[in-house]
Amino acid sequence: MAVSRLMGSLLAMLAVLSLLSSPVSATRSLGGNCGLENGFYHHSCPNVESIIFQSMIASFNKDNTVAPGVLRLAYHDCFVRGCDASVLLDGPGLVEKNSTINVGLHGFEAIDAAKEAVEEACPGVVSCSDVLQFAVRDTVILTGGQGWTVPAGRRDGKVSKESEVAANLMTSDKNVPVLLEAFQKKGLSASQMVALAGAHTIGQAACINFDDRLHGKSVDPTLPAHFAADLKKKCPIAGITSTSVNLDLVSPKKFDTQYFKNIINKLGLLTSDQSMLDDSRTSGHVDVNTDASKFNSNFASAMVAMSKIDVLTGNQGEIRRQCRFAN
Ligand code: HEM
Ligand SMILES: *[C@@H]1O[C@H](CO)[C@@H](O)[C@H](O)[C@H]1NC(C)=O
Repeated sequence: MAVSRLMGSLLAMLAVLSLLSSPVSATRSLGGNCGLENGFYHHSCPNVESIIFQSMIASFNKDNTVAPGVLRLAYHDCFVRGCDASVLLDGPGLVEKNSTINVGLHGFEAIDAAKEAVEEACPGVVSCSDVLQFAVRDTVILTGGQGWTVPAGRRDGKVSKESEVAANLMTSDKNVPVLLEAFQKKGLSASQMVALAGAHTIGQAACINFDDRLHGKSVDPTLPAHFAADLKKKCPIAGITSTSVNLDLVSPKKFDTQYFKNIINKLGLLTSDQSMLDDSRTSGHVDVNTDASKFNSNFASAMVAMSKIDVLTGNQGEIRRQCRFAN
């Protein structure tokens, strides 16, 4: 077990190194990159990506729930004030973390550890928003996904407001028309939204997030009876936050295409997940992403697109010294 885990880590390390060594000029595109660049830290902090990867391996081996935790952080960071690490700030005042939508967020310690390791090697050079984006790519690799080249050069915001969260991050009782509008506002397409929703191939949701399917006027008729019965056993009354259920009931820790297969079998956990099958703008993409090589490449390019939302670059923002506090 220990040996196979070590082998897995070594293989993943090789995967990251091969991403790093891909020729910068071939993938650098002016105009489409929002001021970000592949290989941005090549001179200023050449080992940044391997330092972060080592740190993420250590955090993941201590607690493998950091993978879904950190993956979700990327979405919640980028959809509120852009990918500026505003979700990581602890204050002052009511910050994004204080929103009810964000109460379940976790994985912050893994980002702190990665940032500390980077600060030791290259003080004051690498932003928290870039650390987060590298770390997210790494967690996908560590759970069996493919990884991608992360364009970098983001700078950190100084502002985080609780009041900005609810308008940008939809709750899971919503369906495609509402979700699609929210993604389109961020410049993401239906196909990118479906690929990104594939992140729910790992991690968990607290019962309260699917109360609408179990404890409404009647049980959601699209839930297969055995699945509904099992969920009701775990979540017998409305409003439970202390019990969580795997988002992918078949392979909850593996970054694979099972999320899409579950949806086709009516075994998506959240209303938002299952609704992807019911709208002609998304259902075809659910089918496409059951193919592993298509999902891996669709997810990679959608994550890169998401990582460019409203970024701060150049002289904007700052390079935070600690991810929880503006300098
Ligand atoms: C389509 C709109 C989305 C909705 C409505 C949604 C909603 C949710 C909800 C309600 C949870 C459960 C949280 C909890 O109980 O702690 C969750 C978990 C999660 N979400 Fe999403 N999500 C969406 C899109 C995304 C995207 C785009 C990503 C990343 C690319 C993502 C990544 C995750 C991950 C990895 C988890 C598991 C977290 C954990 O185990 O701690 N989600 N999501
Ligand atoms: C808001 O979140 C911060 C950071 O997690 C926490 O320290 C603070 O106690 C929270 N404030 C309220 C009123 O919940």
